[in-house]
Order: sequence, then C-alpha cells, then structure tokens
Amino acid sequence: MKTNGESLQQVTEVLGKALKSFLEQSQEGKGKVLVQKESNALAAELQLSHWLKQGLASAGQVKDLLSIYTDNTQHLHHPHYMGHQCAVPNIGAFIADTVNGIANNPMAIYEMGPAAAVMEKVVINWMLKKAGWLKFESIEETRNHKTGGGGVLTHGGSMANLTALSAARARIAPEAWTEGTPGNLVVLCPEVAHYSVSRAISILGLGSKAAIPIKVSDKEVMDPDYLAPALRQVKEEGKRVMAVIANACATATGLYDPLEETGLFCQENKLWYHIDGAHGAAALVSDQHRHLMKGVHLADSMIWDAHKMLRTSALCAAVLFKDHLNMLNTFRQKGSYLFFEKEDVGIDAIENAIECTKSSLGTKLFWSLAIEGEQAMADYIGSRYDITKSFYDLIRSTSDFECPYEPESNILCFKYLAPDSNDSFQLAIRNELVKRGDFYITTTTMNGARYLRVSVQNPDTSLEHFDKMLVSIREVAMALRE
Ligand SMILES: Cc1ncc(COP(=O)(O)O)c(C=O)c1O
Repeated sequence: MKTNGESLQQVTEVLGKALKSFLEQSQEGKGKVLVQKESNALAAELQLSHWLKQGLASAGQVKDLLSIYTDNTQHLHHPHYMGHQCAVPNIGAFIADTVNGIANNPMAIYEMGPAAAVMEKVVINWMLKKAGWLKFESIEETRNHKTGGGGVLTHGGSMANLTALSAARARIAPEAWTEGTPGNLVVLCPEVAHYSVSRAISILGLGSKAAIPIKVSDKEVMDPDYLAPALRQVKEEGKRVMAVIANACATATGLYDPLEETGLFCQENKLWYHIDGAHGAAALVSDQHRHLMKGVHLADSMIWDAHKMLRTSALCAAVLFKDHLNMLNTFRQKGSYLFFEKEDVGIDAIENAIECTKSSLGTKLFWSLAIEGEQAMADYIGSRYDITKSFYDLIRSTSDFECPYEPESNILCFKYLAPDSNDSFQLAIRNELVKRGDFYITTTTMNGARYLRVSVQNPDTSLEHFDKMLVSIREVAMALRE
C-alpha cells in the first residue's frame, strides 16, 4: 500500500475496528489473557516472510494480519493481567503513538518537533512539581536561572538510571568525561537494586564491583543503619562515594526504602542521593499515597517511568534533577552539526539525553494525562494501590495462601501453602497458570524463597478477579500433585 491520504483513511478504519474489538473483548475478560505458540509456528501463521516479500496490497490484508496479531499478543486490558510492570495504556497513549507514526517528531532538537518538545517540557515540569522541585512554571524560565529543577525523558528506566548516574559522576569527577573514570568511585545501593543500576555502573566504567550492596531487611527493604559503616569502610579503602541509591519501590516486592533516613544520611555526608522511583514515584500523584515518597526533597536525582503507572505505552521514562545545573553537566560532548551556535527558538533536549534521535516521548505522557485529566490519574493510582491491599486482606482470610508482608504499592508477593509445597512447586504453579492462559502473573524470589507475584496495573481488576485467581491456583496445584 502506498503512503497517501486514501490509504491512511482505509487503514485507520480497519485499525479502529480491529483495536475496538480487541480492547472491548479484553476489558470484558473474554478469552485468554495470553496464548503462547511456538515461535516458528507463529511466524508461519502470521505469514511474515510472505508479507515481507510480497507487500500488503489492501486494507483487507492489513485487517487479516492484524487479527492474527492481536490474537497472539499479551492482553494487558484483560482484568486477569497482573503480570509485569507495564502500563495498561489509555486512549491518550494511542493518540500519541498514532500521531507519531505519521508525523514522526524526534524532538531532541526543537526544530524537529516544536509542539512535541513543548509537551515534553510541560510534563517534565508536572513531574518536577509533584516532586516539589519545580521553581519556575514557565518553560523558558528555568534555563535562565541558576536554581530550579530540570529533567529529560528517555527511552526507559534503565537509560534513565544511566543518565542520572552519569550526572553524579560529572559532579564528583568532572574529568571523567575526557580522562576516563577514576578507579576509586563506588555507589552504595540496596542489595536488591534493579539490575539496570549495576549495569549503569559498569557502563560508566566503574566496574560492577563498585556497586557496594547495602543490607536489606527480611522484607528486602534497605536498612539505613548499614550506610554509615559502609561509608567508613570505603573511605578507609581510599574510595569515594559517587552516589547513594534508594528504591521507591523495590521491583520484586513493591516496598519503599526509607527515603527520608537515606536522604538525611546523604545530606550529612554531602553525597549524591538518587532515588530509583521507576515504578513507585507514581505515589506522588495520589494525595493518599504520596507519604510513601517522604524524603524526596532530599534527593539530587530521581527516575520515574511513565510506562509503568501512568497509563503510557512503552517507553517513556523521566530523569529528574532537583538542580537543573547538574543535568546540564551530565554529558560534556559536542557534535558540530547538532550543537552549533545558534539563535535558538525553544529548548533542545539533545544536550541532556543519551539519545540523538529521540522519540516524541513527551507526547505519550501528555496525552495519557490530558485524556482524562490528572485527577483521574491520581484516582487510578490510588485505586490500584488500595485494591492490592484488599487482595492482601483476602489472602489473609484464607488458610492455604500467605503473604510475607503487607503491600505498600500495587505489587504483592504471595505463596500457595501445601504440605509438600516448596520453591519449585510455586514455580510450577506459575508456569501452569500462564500456560492455561486464564491469568497472567509473575514470580520472584524474596529473602531466598520463591513467591508468586502480582503487579496490578489493570484499572478493571477487582477483588472478584483475585478470588477467581485463587480458585484457579488451587485447581492447578491439585492437578500438579496428581
Ligand atoms: C526499580 C526499577 N528500576 C529500573 C527499572 C528499569 O526500567 P525499564 O524497564 O524502563 O528500563 C525497573 C523495571 O522494572 C525497575 O523496577
């Protein structure tokens, strides 16, 4: 099909119909959450090689291909989807992705997408305001001042952690950009920090051993009492702390580290404080839950994935800085064709992001927020945190399930109890449940033991769905033991 207005209209019509039925059936909980086929068989069913060679000739062919595609995808809108921490996108995200599919505004330089660039600045300011770091409402104002928060959107939380740690390195060792990373820098982070943290530390040239693990409790929450001895020890070894990291919240458990105590420790010792809020910074949006982020004012940097709890399709992650000058120092490099002196209108993101061609990420978050307004987003986040607490209460009312802790967010680990139930049995339950396709959950280890795990993003998941899931797990367990 050629790219012209006529084809666009035809494709939009079939796309609209196909996605409407996909969305409605998923939301009504019809059919499976996930049907997995062997990859060769699936590629053959989709006739991928054929279409690559032949090309799609009509909207009808697009429709047929789309129908097989949607049958063979994960159904995040199905209320039985309780798996990985991926947003269940709203119509706003759909608008952004669709517009980008035609307009394509890689707006790292302002002139490649002025409206998209402005949207990014506005949503970054919205996030800064939630963190209490916004000094100037006007988009243009910040860069003309010496103080005030700043931020940039990147393609994912892993990239965002790398960006924040790069800024921390620029502060403690500005020479690293030209001379290479000094060999004595370390990072103090919880034992259970997300793997993107140690990956970033290695990428930045510190070596993964520079990630100094701080002990966590039996619930895998960082124990701030171990920070001072760790700092003493590394100092004795002639090392310098580049950053201290806290989880908000931890990936496996959804529990928040003591952000305030950690922040006070960093303040006292003049250390860069980074909060990994990829998932849980969303609590800042809900009046009932923002207390979980108490201490955020003490951080130097924070990341926050919109594609986890802000109904935004993947990927869209923010790196936020309390002091925008730290952001401006992150990358000290010039590319003459992009960074030439100019009388620039608007604001370029290119100097603060790893990406050169950067998708119009701000449009995703802007539309996702604006489509129903920020109060609806706050209610959504609050309701998901609350429903997870109700699920915990439900589990506590049973005799054959247990939870190792009370949830703080929308992530919860739990276990099926049976006389012969061990770690591999929990794993077998999860695998069989997912194979049957009626529910989608994940599994994790916590404190050395294997658990089943839910992350409740779907706005329609209710107590009734959890109840049904427990019934299914009992059936699966019985079948496995026969
Ligand atoms: C705490 C935490 N940090 C960072 C990440 C990485 O984010 P992304 O998957 O967007 O790269 C995750 C992902 O789950 C996470 O839970």
